[in-house]
Amino acid sequence: MPSETPLDRDVAALSEAEAAAEHAVIAARIAEADIRYHQEDAPTISDADYDALRRRLYAIEARFPALKSAVSTSVGAAPAGKFAKVRHVVPMLSLDNAFADQDVVDFVDRARRFLGLDAGQALPFTAEPKIDGLSLSLRYEGGRLVTAATRGDGYEGENVTANARTITEIPENLPAGVPEIVEIRGECYMGHADFAALNARMLEEGGKAFMNPRNAAAGSLRQFDAKITAARPLKFFAYAWGEMSALPATTQMGMVEAFAAWGLPTNPRMRICTAVDEALEFYHALEEDRAGLGYDIDGVVYKVNELALQNRLGFVSRSPRWAIAHKFPAEQAFTVLEGIDIQVGRTGALTPVARLNPVTVGGVVVSNATLHNEDYIKGIGADGAPIRGGRDIRIGDTVIIQRAGDVIPQVVDIDLAKRPADAKPYVFPTVCPACGSHAVREEGEAVRRCTGALICP
Ligand code: IVH
Repeated sequence: MPSETPLDRDVAALSEAEAAAEHAVIAARIAEADIRYHQEDAPTISDADYDALRRRLYAIEARFPALKSAVSTSVGAAPAGKFAKVRHVVPMLSLDNAFADQDVVDFVDRARRFLGLDAGQALPFTAEPKIDGLSLSLRYEGGRLVTAATRGDGYEGENVTANARTITEIPENLPAGVPEIVEIRGECYMGHADFAALNARMLEEGGKAFMNPRNAAAGSLRQFDAKITAARPLKFFAYAWGEMSALPATTQMGMVEAFAAWGLPTNPRMRICTAVDEALEFYHALEEDRAGLGYDIDGVVYKVNELALQNRLGFVSRSPRWAIAHKFPAEQAFTVLEGIDIQVGRTGALTPVARLNPVTVGGVVVSNATLHNEDYIKGIGADGAPIRGGRDIRIGDTVIIQRAGDVIPQVVDIDLAKRPADAKPYVFPTVCPACGSHAVREEGEAVRRCTGALICP
C-alpha cells in the first residue's frame, strides 16, 4: 500500500476507475489506522491526517455511492474484550476538592479576586449534589444519540454507546430545534433499592455481590454484552456538557434547565447561592438528608453560574477555577462487635473480619468490617507504634465503623467506657480455620499465613 495518497485532486475530476483505486487505498489506510489506534494503542498518523482521509473517503463516496464500504460506516475497531476508544473533543476534567468550610470560603475569595470583583458585586454560583457514580458523555448529532463514552483518562474514554442506549432515562432523540452537536455530560449511577435488589439477585444466581452502588454501576455499564446492561437498573443525572455547536443558555443553571427541557434527568436539589453562607447551609442540609436520597452522593459541587465568568476563570492544570467539590467526611456509626471471623485468602493469608450488630452507615447496612490484621486488633500500627492510643479491640466492644467512598468499612476505634467487664483480649488463631494446619507469622510480616498449601481448601 502506498504511504502517500494524492488527496489534492478534485474529486469531480476523477474517473470511476481512478475513484475506485483511490477509494481502496484510503479505506485500507483508515482500516490500518483504526487497528493501530484502537487495538494496539499505537497511532501511526495524526488526528488531522486521519480526519482528512475520512473526509476524502466520504467525498469520493458522495460522487460514487457504489463504492461505500464497511470502513465508511465504522467508528473504529474494537477487539474482543475491549471497548473502542473515543477522543473527547472537549476534555472531561476533574474537580478540585474542598474538605472544610474554610476551603469553600477560600475558593470563592480566589474566584472573586481573579475576576477583580468589588465587595458590593455578587458572584452567584450553583450548588448541587456530587453524585457518586461514573461520568458519561452523551453525544447527539442532529438530535440523535450517536456516541456515549466514559471519562477514561479525561482525554480519551471508552465507547459504551450500545450499553448507554439501554438506559431508559437516556433519550435516544432530543426534541426538534436543539443545536446540531450536543454533548451532554453527567453521572451514571445506581439507586440504593436497585443496588440491593441486584445484589440479592446476583447472590441467588451464585454470582458475587457488588461492593457498593458505584461499582455496580461501573460494572453494569462496562459490559461487552449490552443485554446484560439492559437488565441492570442504571440511572443518569445531566450536569455538564462538552462540545456544543450552540449554547441554549448563558448560565450554568440555564444550561441544566435546558437539558431538563430536552428530556434529560437533572438533579432536583440544584440551587443558586448568592453568598458563601448560603452554599455552606446547602451543604450541611444535604449532609443531613444524605441517607434518605436513595442514591449515593459524596459531597456538593459549586459552580460559578455565569458562563462568561467561567470562561474568564478558566482552568488550572486539570480542574476548573470556576468549580469545586466540597466532599463529605467519611461516615461513621457506633455498633457492637459480636464476633471476629477469620477469612483465609487464596495466598493463605488469615484476615480478621469484624462481625457486627448491623448498623446503617450513610444509608448502607454494614454487618462486616475489616480489622486488617493481628496487630491492628492489638492496637499496634504498621510501623510498630501504638494506634488508637494503644486500645485493643475485644469481642463485645462498642466500636466505631467508618465507611468512606468505595473503601471497605473499617473498625476505626472503640468506646472503652462501654467495654463489658468480662471482655477478654482477642487471641489470634495459630491454626488455619479452613484446614487445621499451622498458621505462622514470619519475622517482619504483618500477616499470619496457613502452611497447609494444597491441602487447604
Ligand atoms: S461537574 C469540569 N457536577 O465528580 C468539571 N461533576 O470529582 C465537570 N461528579 O468527574 C464535572 N457529580 O464524575 C460535576 N454535579 C456534578 C457531579 C460531578 C458527580 C463527578 C464527575 C467528575 C467528578 C470530579
